[in-house]
Formats: sequence, structure tokens, C-alpha cells
Amino acid sequence: MNQSEQNTRKILVTSALPYANGSIHLGHLVEYIQTDIWVRFHKMRGHECYYVCADDTHGTPIMLRAQQEGITPEALIERVHEEHLKDFTDFNIRFDNYYSTNSEENKELALGIYSRLKKKGLIEARTIEQFYDPDKEMFLPDRFIKGECPKCHAQDQYGDGCESCGTTYSPTDLINPVSAVSGATPIKKESEHYFFKLDQCEDFLKQWMQTGHKGNNSAPLQVESSNKLEEWFESGLRDWDISRDAPYFGFEIPDAPGKYLYVWLDAPVGYMSSFKNYCTQHNIDFDKWWNTDSETELYHFIGKDILYFHALFWPATLHFADYRTPSKVCVHGFLTVNGKKMSKSRGTFITARSYLDHLEPEYLRYYYAAKLNERVEDIDLNLEDFVLRVNSNLIGKYINIASRSAGFITKRFDGKLADQLDSDGKNLLDEIQGKTGDIASLYENRQFSEAIKLIMSLADLANEYINDIKPWEIAKQEGQEEKLHQSCTTNINVFRLLTLYLKPVMPELTEKVEAFLNIEPIQWSDSSQLLLGHTINKYKHLAKRIEAEQVTAMVDKSKETLQAKEEHSPARHGEAQQHPAIADTIEFEDFAKIDLRIAKIVKATHVDGADKLLQLTLDIGEPEGKTRNVFAGIKSAYQPEDLEGKLTVMVANLTPRKMRFGVSEGMVLAAGPGSKDLWILQPDEGAQPGMKVK
Ligand code: 2FM
Ligand code: ZN
Repeated sequence: MNQSEQNTRKILVTSALPYANGSIHLGHLVEYIQTDIWVRFHKMRGHECYYVCADDTHGTPIMLRAQQEGITPEALIERVHEEHLKDFTDFNIRFDNYYSTNSEENKELALGIYSRLKKKGLIEARTIEQFYDPDKEMFLPDRFIKGECPKCHAQDQYGDGCESCGTTYSPTDLINPVSAVSGATPIKKESEHYFFKLDQCEDFLKQWMQTGHKGNNSAPLQVESSNKLEEWFESGLRDWDISRDAPYFGFEIPDAPGKYLYVWLDAPVGYMSSFKNYCTQHNIDFDKWWNTDSETELYHFIGKDILYFHALFWPATLHFADYRTPSKVCVHGFLTVNGKKMSKSRGTFITARSYLDHLEPEYLRYYYAAKLNERVEDIDLNLEDFVLRVNSNLIGKYINIASRSAGFITKRFDGKLADQLDSDGKNLLDEIQGKTGDIASLYENRQFSEAIKLIMSLADLANEYINDIKPWEIAKQEGQEEKLHQSCTTNINVFRLLTLYLKPVMPELTEKVEAFLNIEPIQWSDSSQLLLGHTINKYKHLAKRIEAEQVTAMVDKSKETLQAKEEHSPARHGEAQQHPAIADTIEFEDFAKIDLRIAKIVKATHVDGADKLLQLTLDIGEPEGKTRNVFAGIKSAYQPEDLEGKLTVMVANLTPRKMRFGVSEGMVLAAGPGSKDLWILQPDEGAQPGMKVK
């Protein structure tokens, strides 16, 4: 093995597979852009790095969507595949392979994994009772059953949990359940399901979490993720239901006619099958990448909502099916737009396509890079800040370096750069070249925002240099030819280096710069060289500023399109506005058992991994400054900062409830059907924390 082979890492990278029944939006793009930057960086470094993904095509929602459209699931997934791939390509996200989980490779691998797990005694058959739609003759997934919350009696709640009070329950607990597919009243029916015995994988998972793939002492999880795993271990790992009954769109289990693999079992296998398909086309040894003791690296980029699948089920199924385990699972947070959850009515639920119809893809790549870090943190796309950063940093600081110098090289020196530099120029370039290693490790560790900050600080240095020299003035002075030539050559070299550093983020812009500089595609190692005595091309406009109107137009258009769509589909809201039936009469003593108190919301925070909950710290005037911790299902309606300092009403004598995120010591009262339409109760002025509400 020669030196360069030794240093060449073999890295396989994936992003989560998007479902084949929806459009890619700006939230999805956080992950694909993050992954693409990371992959491009490693390719630029000369490593053997592959980036694969696929559409996640199976499951009930996709089957039903196709039925609704009057087409086959295959036709639906083919159409969406094309749409997704076009969106990704237009954002310069370059997969080495973008495949489908509805493929022969995936079938073979997924069923193979199932049968290996079964041989190891890790699959158990058990009869369970579930809701069944007698009209559609199908079992109903939780999300396709609606009814009244057994706890707070909010109407129109999904089968897996109440958006109004945050309670999670099973669909069979719902009052007056209805099938969202046909409107029929579902009946309870028994059926045999297969379960993966996750609890038997606990020792392995604990070890993997500590020492990583092959026990090589490289932790595969960020600290936030390993903390989550600790919590899950503590509350006990539950068996995982991995089969579904016909009718289902997925892979039928050979020894169990009418039973299918649950979509979440075959989805991550899509990472393997997409790569396998690539290997066949490119003559790569698939087994070398996936056998138990593989020397290669495997990185999964995912959002925090699917950590359970990727940090428990996935490594466990891989390990016990005799495949290698992931080297790292890189988790990112969610996207907010202007500080809030993306919203259709505000026009901030923006699809990839509507962004592309109005703005340059690489501006979003730049902005996300400027915000992303290695932690599991939500990032905010503030549309004003977006315009500002692109215009003042990207155009004002970076592009400006070239536009202020290139003209002189063309007009005064026939396009030829100077053969040597003066000492100021050399010093500046030394300083910029000296940061190559730091920038590389920031990319490697996914600290993109730090990398951008550092690169922009170098652009600041260069602009100071230009402002000191004032090429536009010396150009008018006699006898300053050499100084003009050398300083503009310095600037062009600075520009080339900054472009090299930004190349993973803005590959398309880089191509234009490479054409202007008349150079081959730049690699990371080129940072040690300078361009001297070289002829460049005439400068052509490289990038234009964003006009605020472009953003407004995009938001307006998103509002319009999504509202139009909503008008054509039956709204959840319409049903929710019906008057809920008055509950059965109770005696006063029953009511008096509820200890209602005025509570001050001292603190409100988001809960990692919870879609619906906010964590509230409540003061109800208890002795010694004791406060209550309450998880409330009001995230869809409130931002934490809107709540802090407010008074509300809480049930203070509710049995504390252990939830996945901690213990909830009561409940706050809110009105409304749920989701965005939810209003917490507030007492009239003068009420004090701790007062009884009677
Ligand atoms: O959450 C989702 O959108 C899933 N389609 C992600 C699947 S990732 C992987 F496991 F396939
Ligand atoms: Zn409820």
C-alpha cells in the first residue's frame, strides 16, 4: 500500500430517505445541504467518498395516496422520484446514487435481514388487537383513526396522541373513533404480528454507543443523542412491531402470506440497497463495505425526530443480521422560519421548487452553512437576515474582492497575473493559506458556521488590504504599474483561496470562478499553491444581490399555492370546529376533587424530540420556592418566549405522570380544538400564583 492509498479514507454517507408522497421543502434541505457539503469536502480532499440516498416508498400513506389519485403506487413513486431528484439536482445536491426502496436489491436485503434475525430467535409472533376499517377491509395505522381524546375530550384527535393536551395513548382508547380513510366506525380485530425483540439487544447497543463500530473507540453519537439513549435504556426497550397486514404496499414476508415488512424495517435498508445498486454499476465490492469487520466508514445524517430508528433499531438489526454497524449517526435539529415553525398560512412552508422559482440555490446553501453546527440544535432561517448576509457578506465581502481587481489585470496587463508578489501581499496570502488546516477540521467536524465565520474574517482582511492599497487610485498614478499589478495579483489569489474554502458550500459559483481564473477544478491540496504569471479570463458578473421583493414574492406565492391546495382537500379544521358534545353530568363533589390553581409560567422551553410539547416551569406559590414541571401539548400554538411571565390555570393535584422526557407534575388548561387553534386560560388581572380556582 503506498502513502496516498493509506491516507485515502473510504467513506459511505447517507441522508434520510424522503417519503415518496410529498414534496421536498426547506426543512428537508437543511439535511441534504449539510450532508452534501460534508461529502463534497471529503471528495475535494481526495477521499473515496460516496453519497447515496433513495425514496422511501412503502407504507399505508403511499398506498392510500395512490388510490386517491387513481394510479398505482408504482406510478406515484416513479413520478415523485423524478420530482425529488430534480429538486435535489437543482440545489446542487449530488448523490452518487438516488434509488428507491421499492427495488429488487432492497427486497433481497430486507428479507435477508428479517430471516437472519428470525434464525437468531429475535423475531417473535404475537397476537394483537387493532382497529380495522370494515368498509375498506384494512387495519388502520394510528394516524388514520380520529376521535375524541379520552383525557381532555378534544375532538378530532389522531389515534396516537392528543394534540390538545399532549397525552399519548393507543387508538383503542379514543372515544367515538372514526376511520379517516372511509369515515366508517372501526371495529377491533385480532391479528398476528411479528416483533423484533429489541430488549435483547441492549448490551450490544450500550457497547456500540460507547465504542462505536468494531469497538474502535470512536463514539458514534453526539452527546445529546447518547443522553437520549440513556433515557430510553432507563425506561426500558420495548419490542418493535415489524409486520403489517394486507392490504399494504411493501415487501410480503415469504413464509407468512398476507404479512408485510413494516416500512421502517425496509427504509434504512434502502441505504444499503442504493449503494449495492451503485456497486453493481461501478464494479465496487459491496461486501467489503458492509461485512462485520469492514474497514470503511459509514455516516448517517438524520433529523432528531428519527433518532430512535437510527440509534437503536438500525444498529441492532445490522449487528444481529451480521452486517457492520454505523461509524457515526450525525443528528441535526429542525428548521424554523422567522423564529417559528414553518407555516402554510404565513407562507413560510416553502417547497424546494418555490424557492428555486425565486432565488439562487447557492444562497440558501451559504445561509444554512453559516448557521449549521455539529450539535443537535434547531436552526432559524430569518428571511431578513438571509438577504442581509448574502448581500453584505457573500457579495459585499467575497465577490467584491474579484470585482475590484480583475478589471485592472485584464485592461492593464493583458489578463496576465504578476510573476511575483510584494511582501505585504505575501504576508496576507501566507496568513490565508495558514488557515487551511483549521478550516478543514471545521468542515470535518461539521462546524460549518465556524468555518464560514473564519473564511469571512479572511475576506475582511483582504478588503482591509485593498482599502489600504486603493488600486483604483494607484491605477491613475504614474510609475505605480508594478504595485498595481502585484496588489491585484494578490487579490486574485486571495479570491482563489477563499473560493477553494467555499467550494463545498457553493460548487456552482466555484465552477464560474474556475472558468474566470482559467484553472482546472480546484482540490483541497491546491491551497498550498499560488497563481503567478498565469493568464486569467475577462471578469464576468459572478453573482447578484438579492432584492427583498424576491423573498416577498416567494412567501406570497407559497401562501397562495398551499391555501389553494388546502381548499381542495378536506380540512381537518372544518371537522374540528363542530361543537363537541357536552360530557355526562357530574356531582359537585366530583368537580371539587380537582385542585385548580393560578400558576405563573416562570420558564418555557422546547423539548428535544417532542413535536407537540413544551416544558413549563410553574410557580403556584408553594413553600420554599418549589416549582412544578409540566409538559404541555401546546407547541403548535405557542412559542416558549410568548408564555414566560404569563399567568394561567393548572390542575395541581393530578397524579404525576412519567413521560419519555421526564415527569409531568400537573396540567395547564387550554381551550380550542387543538393544533394552532389552542388558547391557554389566563385569569383576570389581580390573580396571584397559588390562588385556588373555584
Ligand atoms: O422520516 C422520514 O421522512 C423517513 N422517510 C426517513 C427514513 S430514513 C431511513 F431510515 F430510511
Ligand atoms: Zn387530550
